[in-house]
Amino acid sequence: MRKYQHPGIASTPSGNPSNNRLIDSIRKRLLIWSQTNAKDYPWRNPVEEWHGLIAEILLQRTKVASVVPVYERFLARFGTPSELAVASMEEIEQIIYPLGLRWRAPLLKQLGGYLTQSGGKIPRSLTELQTLPGVGAYVAAAWLSIFGGVRSVIVDANIVRWLCRLINQPYDGETRRKKWLLDMAESFTPQTEWKEYNLAVLDFTMEICTSKPKCERCPLADLCEYGQVHLSSNTQN
Ligand code: ADE
Repeated sequence: MRKYQHPGIASTPSGNPSNNRLIDSIRKRLLIWSQTNAKDYPWRNPVEEWHGLIAEILLQRTKVASVVPVYERFLARFGTPSELAVASMEEIEQIIYPLGLRWRAPLLKQLGGYLTQSGGKIPRSLTELQTLPGVGAYVAAAWLSIFGGVRSVIVDANIVRWLCRLINQPYDGETRRKKWLLDMAESFTPQTEWKEYNLAVLDFTMEICTSKPKCERCPLADLCEYGQVHLSSNTQN
């Protein structure tokens, strides 16, 4: 098996042709996997673009299944940004309470105020987006790439785990800030079809490359260093 090699981990530069071919194969297989395994979450086809931003804020550091009813209740109650802007804090808190996100209530209310002023328009740059209430680096990148039509690289804890397993590197809470990891995520994110790729990776890392990975069902297992080790040790036992 030819390894994905990365500066800082191995001596070969990430731009070398064999690496690019491997990255290409991984992406292609992910997109094929996604054709039959993509999730049908209600925010995947938002009626208005601010709905996608609300989804990303609710999805950050929460379990996706618990976000579905909260997202639906939230949008049923707040039909427009201005309804959100004038809502009482208690009511917003009550709706997002199941996610343990009470502290995000004032930010959501302020975001309603911002969107009322902007007429629902959302900026298309990472820097500008991060000036919006409740919008940090992850939410900005996820919204831009999935809903905003702008290529962005997204990195969450699941994606860190997946990338590290591909090259069999240990990871911890700090790995997501390491330059080599960010470079690796960057080189995996395609120049076109980044939305499809990012959605596929989000779904794949929630369903297959989970904390207890399902290597037996993984379409990338033969390209993944962790998968190779894991499957061969299971065969030997
Ligand atoms: N599904 C799961 N996580 C998601 C996210 N951050 N954005 C869009 N869809 C998702």
